Amino acid sequence: MKVLVIGGGGREHAIIKKIKENKSVDKIIAIPGNGGIAKDAECIDIKATDIEKIKEYVKNESIDYAVVAPDDPLVLGLVDELSEMGIPCFGPRANAAIIEGSKVFSKNLMKKYGIPTAEYEVFDDMESALAYLETAPIPTVIKADGLALGKGVIIAETREDAKNAVVEMMQNKKFGKSGENVVIEEFLTGPEVSVLSFTDGKTVVPMISSMDHKRAMDNDEGLNTGGMGTIAPNPYYTKAIADECMKTIFEPTIEAMNKEGRTFKGCLYFGLMLTPKGPKVIEYNCRFGDPETQVVLPLLESDLLTIMQATTDGTLADTEVKFSDKNAACVIMASAGYPQSYEKGFEMTISDEVSDNVFVAGASLKDGKLLTNGGRVLGVTSVEDTLEKAIEKSYEKVAKIHFDNEYYRKDIGARALKALED
Ligand code: AMP
Ligand code: GLY
Repeated sequence: MKVLVIGGGGREHAIIKKIKENKSVDKIIAIPGNGGIAKDAECIDIKATDIEKIKEYVKNESIDYAVVAPDDPLVLGLVDELSEMGIPCFGPRANAAIIEGSKVFSKNLMKKYGIPTAEYEVFDDMESALAYLETAPIPTVIKADGLALGKGVIIAETREDAKNAVVEMMQNKKFGKSGENVVIEEFLTGPEVSVLSFTDGKTVVPMISSMDHKRAMDNDEGLNTGGMGTIAPNPYYTKAIADECMKTIFEPTIEAMNKEGRTFKGCLYFGLMLTPKGPKVIEYNCRFGDPETQVVLPLLESDLLTIMQATTDGTLADTEVKFSDKNAACVIMASAGYPQSYEKGFEMTISDEVSDNVFVAGASLKDGKLLTNGGRVLGVTSVEDTLEKAIEKSYEKVAKIHFDNEYYRKDIGARALKALED
């Protein structure tokens, strides 16, 4: 089989390594992939969002199955286009990817179907948003409606900050069209849990839970990033909470999307907050999380490609999805300066001894050398019997990998370990 994977980060590397375990796969093509992915797939230098070029390319390749991993090509309708060309795909069509593509859509969906989430108001003009903020409870949360590279959410601790955020989004167009509409919502508290799920639009199968570390610096300080590390499973996510989420959130969401005529197939990511009033949805993503995937997939014991195909074919109920009972930890090695400006082009050395479960996020290949080429450079994952050992092992591996300007958080998993002690 020839499999196409769209995307070029650590998440895609983890997906590709797992798909490779299927014996019937003889070739994987990545668009665009990256210098590290090039070890495991043929990388074609086309942007993941260049739908026309991708269509042109696949016309002459006999692709048996395609996986569209990032949010933007999904929202732009790449699955629709490839499906129409006769290529079976993993991922939602554009009319379902809107669950991530528009926060106004997802909030209104949750309200209409009684799915627990933060209270909110939607604004399409700045004056009303500013007037509302005069009396809104503080802290408050301002969200740009559309995709904003994970930066469109501002937690405002003061009324002043909240107003500034609205002006930045709606007047100064900081996030372009994405900020034309804003959601202003209730500030929730509690541990966060990421639950990725497989769904064929009828059955929803949650994967093992995980915990992201979004802030750039130790002790959850500094700017929000795409994610600086993950652990799985998430100790806060007990069996009782999982059962409750299935009943109040996962199944109702799949049902709601069907009722709206927007059947969702692929990976639906539930970003949850376990509040004192029960689990609530913070956000939906229409795709695998990054770096959640780098801890979730190494724990998957069943065949990933078979499960993906079952989501396309509608046979998920009859397909085995089994996770190991071990623990995984992933430490992101980034370029110093990320998520703002950083230098790139530094050579990295990853010896064979530590390369197992090292996922390459931002690298280019030049004269056989792997050079840093992004903010997040590597995801260094370990799988061990206990969380403590997995964290320890990942940091041992990190210590043996080198590149100039490397930066990583030293406390990935510390909060989860503490939760296990309590
Ligand atoms: P997002 O970019 O949507 O993943 O949001 C970034 C982060 O903002 C989330 O991981 C939460 O930590 C935080 N967040 C989003 N919405 C809320 C909320 N209503 N209350 C408290 N924190 C929130
Ligand atoms: N790690 C968070 C995300 O993928 O959106």
